Amino acid sequence: MMWLLILLLSAIHQSRSCGFDNAHHDYTAPDLDVVLSHNLALRDQNNKRPSTWNKVAITNVGVFDGWTMRPAQTVVIENGRIGDDLTGAIQIDGSGHTFMPGLIDSHSHPSNITHLQSPTEFGATTAMVMSCPEPLICDSLRNHKGLTDVLLGSTPAAAARSIHGRLLGLNSSTTMANASQSPSWVDDQIENGADFIKMIAETPDLSQDIYQLLRPPPMQKARLSSAMRPTTAVSSRPSSPTPLDETSTRQFLQKRIISTPTLIMMLKTTQATPKLNYTASRLSTSRLYHAEVEVLVGTDANDQVGAPAKPKFGISIHDEMELLVEAGLPPVEVLRGATARPADIWGLHDRGVVEFGRRADLVLVKGNPIHNISATRNIRKVWVSGEDLDDARREWMA
Ligand SMILES: *[C@@H]1O[C@H](CO)[C@@H](O)[C@H](O)[C@H]1NC(C)=O
Ligand SMILES: *[C@@H]1O[C@H](CO)[C@@H](O)[C@H](O)[C@H]1NC(C)=O
Ligand SMILES: *[C@@H]1O[C@H](CO)[C@@H](O)[C@H](O)[C@H]1NC(C)=O
Ligand SMILES: *[C@@H]1O[C@H](CO)[C@@H](O)[C@H](O)[C@H]1NC(C)=O
Ligand SMILES: *[C@@H]1O[C@H](CO)[C@@H](O)[C@H](O)[C@H]1NC(C)=O
Ligand SMILES: [Zn+2]
Repeated sequence: MMWLLILLLSAIHQSRSCGFDNAHHDYTAPDLDVVLSHNLALRDQNNKRPSTWNKVAITNVGVFDGWTMRPAQTVVIENGRIGDDLTGAIQIDGSGHTFMPGLIDSHSHPSNITHLQSPTEFGATTAMVMSCPEPLICDSLRNHKGLTDVLLGSTPAAAARSIHGRLLGLNSSTTMANASQSPSWVDDQIENGADFIKMIAETPDLSQDIYQLLRPPPMQKARLSSAMRPTTAVSSRPSSPTPLDETSTRQFLQKRIISTPTLIMMLKTTQATPKLNYTASRLSTSRLYHAEVEVLVGTDANDQVGAPAKPKFGISIHDEMELLVEAGLPPVEVLRGATARPADIWGLHDRGVVEFGRRADLVLVKGNPIHNISATRNIRKVWVSGEDLDDARREWMA
């Protein structure tokens, strides 16, 4: 049995849905208030401190620029950006190390500051928040100086009577009942702060066809400004015993569908449920890659009541990259899927590559992840928008 999840992310782009997003209906009002005030208080406190923008030059360092590995060179970080002038810079010897763009987690579910701190420490400096059942909470995760930057998904559109609808506790007042509601629903989501729209198609109710009818909201309402590329994403359920076949993988390519397999979620889910089997997820991923479908790195990291598995925030992006290599992707493809490729797909044109003028979201690791993907775990330093994580923390604690 193949169970397809379709996402269409309106003004922006798309990724893919996990099987079990957001069993969030158990969130009680008091928790929500506590988390919200905690998030807001920390943002206020942290954003008051001046930026610790030391001018730094990392010398003799191998650079994975988001697409390819470049020979040892010098990279300058200045005023939050990647610079080119060494004058007055503190020099750090980067011999034996690799410099790469901050990683982008294309599928994650943070809800409090702790969920942003771990990814930052593990070098994942951008997270696509794959749906926001509570827009206020999501909004309180934005704009934290020195922490992982988030882009917010909408409340998921899933029909109330569908599997996800029931899992998420959705009813017809919170989600979209049929295609005729879609224009106003999408407008409402953007009004509530969504950077992109998350939809889950499944029967009964919302068939894949509904997404053909969706109209992107006016561009001026969207935070992201890249060219519109509404596309759909497909995934199979982890319980599916059959991997994607050739017809399906060809469809991905023809419709310019992108896949974020979240293998770490699939692995943990299948491990937690004896009758499930991870093999199909790995095979599907391998087939998608060989069919030249763009594959992105996403973790589905979450701490949600009712989720069948909870990949950890931060470390799981390194688990995911290893699993993608194990599924047959060359390390360089996996690294692209965590840097330049999602930046391009999601329209994040200020980051994702090591290039003059880009946002200095950077990770310095020992070794060469092109040779061994596990080298991404050997993190020596992380910069978020030009702030050295260690310096920023010292400032904050002082
Ligand atoms: C944030 O979530 C973690 C678990 O994921 C929890 O331990 C922590 O208490 C939460 N923080 C707040 C302020 O709710
Ligand atoms: C629908 O869900 C919302 C939000 O959880 C809730 O406030 C409302 O009472 C629900 N409506 C029905 C008819 O169950
Ligand atoms: C769509 O759903 C709304 C709300 O349930 C309903 O009022 C409307 O009649 C439906 N429209 C169609 C075309 O089914
Ligand atoms: C998992 O599924 C594959 C086929 O998709 C099968 O070859 C393998 O034996 C299964 N493993 C287990 C432990 O059931
Ligand atoms: C890659 O690095 C890890 C951790 O450093 C090590 O355990 C593993 O053996 C290495 N793999 C290869 C193929 O060298
Ligand atoms: Zn998810």
